Amino acid sequence: MADELILNGFIQCSPNHQIKGMWKHPLDETSRGYRDLKWWIRLGELLERGCFDALFFADVHGTYDTYGGNRDAAVRHAVQFPGIDPTVLIPALAAATDHLGFGVTYSTTYFPPFQAAKLFSTLDHLTDGRIAWNVVTSYLPDAERQGLGVHLEHDERYDRADEFLDVCYKLWEQSWEDGAIVLDAANDIHTDPSKIHEIDHHGRWFDVQGPHMVEPSPQRTPVIFQAGSSARGMQFAAQHGEAVFVASPQGAAGAELVTNLREAAANAGRDPSSMKIIHATRLIVAETDQEAHAMKAEWDRNFSVEGFLALFGGWTGIDLGGHSPDTPIASIPATAMRTWVERWQREDPNHEWTVGDLARRLSEGGAGTAFVGSATTVADQLEEFAETTGLDGFNLITSPVPWGLEQVVDHLVPELQRRGRLRTEYEPNETLRERWFGRGATHPRSQP
Ligand SMILES: Cc1cc2nc3c(=O)[nH]c(=O)nc-3n(C[C@H](O)[C@H](O)[C@H](O)COP(=O)(O)O)c2cc1C
Repeated sequence: MADELILNGFIQCSPNHQIKGMWKHPLDETSRGYRDLKWWIRLGELLERGCFDALFFADVHGTYDTYGGNRDAAVRHAVQFPGIDPTVLIPALAAATDHLGFGVTYSTTYFPPFQAAKLFSTLDHLTDGRIAWNVVTSYLPDAERQGLGVHLEHDERYDRADEFLDVCYKLWEQSWEDGAIVLDAANDIHTDPSKIHEIDHHGRWFDVQGPHMVEPSPQRTPVIFQAGSSARGMQFAAQHGEAVFVASPQGAAGAELVTNLREAAANAGRDPSSMKIIHATRLIVAETDQEAHAMKAEWDRNFSVEGFLALFGGWTGIDLGGHSPDTPIASIPATAMRTWVERWQREDPNHEWTVGDLARRLSEGGAGTAFVGSATTVADQLEEFAETTGLDGFNLITSPVPWGLEQVVDHLVPELQRRGRLRTEYEPNETLRERWFGRGATHPRSQP
């Protein structure tokens, strides 16, 4: 029988995640819900009812101000703005659920690693080992204007991320010996100082003496996700990514991306099959194909072209309104996410994509491609995608929320379970790392 697929819900703590314009839809609750804790709890409970692996949060710092040279379009169309901090939600969601995992995005470009290590140890304790960190290097130059530090050049952001993680690993894995907490009441010793170690890290970016503030949590190191598929991004993924979050094309181009990632992992001395590769998938499931296509028509009707161009501008650093239509995309330096520029070239390597091609493609295709249909139709599409590319699972983007996720839980989940592609119940007392890498998997694969 084919392997189970990893299934995560993918969302952001802001009024309108990726299907731009859908905040207007009468069934969409995100606009109000994103700042309502009880709404989030209901969403967590829904995904746990559907035996999902995890709820996965995107997050950014700063506004999208590339398109048109200012942030007006992004503000007008709720392009990842306004937004609240997802890390704060996790403990409440963990208290309301017993098994659901949580993936949360946190940038290595802005914060000190000592604080990140403390935050993720805290979250790992409070979730009983159900936390994953989506390690991102981020891309919005506006962050610099918010006092979050210099907006480094693309590859330097990855260099800093390497050292950032190095510090975190030392704090999580080396600073505290097992058994350091002795609770010796007779001798009035809570923690044995001989088992607590400084890490004494001195590098290009950080000087951190240690020790780590937090006693070892169930996973010590959270499950490390990586997102970003440029050459430098893949090198980083090979080093650190236990799971890699990709925006993969279908078919042969997607298979090549997956093969390249697994080869990079093997070259880094890892078992390539141990790298979980998870694709960001837009989908609409409903009781019938017809009902699902009717909702796709509503995506297209509500679609905000200007909102999407603002999103694309922030993702890539390219203002599609600011270049002549015949400029080849490849000739414009992509200072933000190369993944989103290279994606088109990957899809059709023989075509030289111009600014005009891309603007047309982004604005004429309505809300763009998605898997759309009844549970049977979409389950077939997901299975085919996984089989032809070799990836392990999906971060599901759907809309309106929660309608889209309710449809997944009520229709798609039972179909995937019937096909043996999704668990029918959770294993008791497992960490998120154990769920994905097997019982007893305690340390990140990238570490000795
Ligand atoms: C699927 C995917 C999801 C991402 N999610 C986020 C995010 O939530 N927040 C963020 O700041 N960066 C996010 N990133 C950006 C990456 O961390 C990275 O900064 C960016 O992709 C540039 O690297 P690249 O050129 O290797 O793609 C994401 C990237 C990809 C491909």
